[in-house]
Amino acid sequence: MNFVYITGTGSGIGKALAEHLLETGKYKVIGISRHQRIEHPHYLHIALDLSKPRLFRKFRFEHIAKARKIVLVNNAAMLGEVKHVGKLKPHSIVAGYHLNLVAPAFLSNEFLRSYRAHEAEKLIINISSGAAFTPIESWSVYCSSKAGLEMFSAVLEEELQRDGIRDTRVFSVSPGVVDTPMQARIREADPTEFQLLDQFIQYKEAGLLARPEAVADRLRHIIEFPEKYPSRSIRLDVDGRS
Ligand SMILES: NC(=O)c1ccc[n+]([C@@H]2O[C@H](COP(=O)([O-])OP(=O)(O)OC[C@H]3O[C@@H](n4cnc5c(N)ncnc54)[C@H](OP(=O)(O)O)[C@@H]3O)[C@@H](O)[C@H]2O)c1
Repeated sequence: MNFVYITGTGSGIGKALAEHLLETGKYKVIGISRHQRIEHPHYLHIALDLSKPRLFRKFRFEHIAKARKIVLVNNAAMLGEVKHVGKLKPHSIVAGYHLNLVAPAFLSNEFLRSYRAHEAEKLIINISSGAAFTPIESWSVYCSSKAGLEMFSAVLEEELQRDGIRDTRVFSVSPGVVDTPMQARIREADPTEFQLLDQFIQYKEAGLLARPEAVADRLRHIIEFPEKYPSRSIRLDVDGRS
């Protein structure tokens, strides 16, 4: 059996990935998010608010006796308030960095500590974004937290190589523009704070958004055949193809 931990299985890409993996019958999926939206004999839900360190610091990975592959997908994230710096609520800044950057760093560290000696192949897949590479007006916390996660993944890759660890890989996957509740929230932004609003509305109207199921299928392919992806950084296009 393969074990896949996925953060953010309440909606969007994380939910689609969990359902897609469960359909194959080859995976036990452990979802970590606030809402349980999946019922399946091979699905375990851990209700946890990953924007609150006093809660997620207590999280521990379960003992797995036998597994071929153990995977952590750091997927949960929030866009937060779409507003210029100077107008953001202090709470939303703190929650955004905790969810988008601190929780993935904490979980990656715990994951490696827990399973380092396990004979299974280990993968950490951090869900990144084009926003990690491009400054976008009113997305300061989102862009900078995703840029931080990119660098976290890059450092981890260097460390794995330096330590000669061959049974563990880290990937940083940008899914493209995907038709999820996060995109719906982008389209609700105040146009006076977000000049790109029309562009994002246009993406939706022109049918340019990728389906979460297509992205889930590409993520499944990375999980099943990591050797086909020599580069840590993977950018998926609109059809979910890399
Ligand atoms: N959609 C896009 O166009 C796009 C583009 C680039 C990158 N991404 C990235 O793709 C990933 C998935 O996003 P999505 O588009 O699928 O967005 P989404 O539908 O809004 O999903 C966000 C997920 O995060 C979970 N989540 C939110 N707040 C949480 C909290 N406080 N604690 C724990 N879990 C929380 C949600 O589950 P609960 O509600 O159950 O907590 C949900 O499953 C994110 O990393 C996002 O940055 C998306």
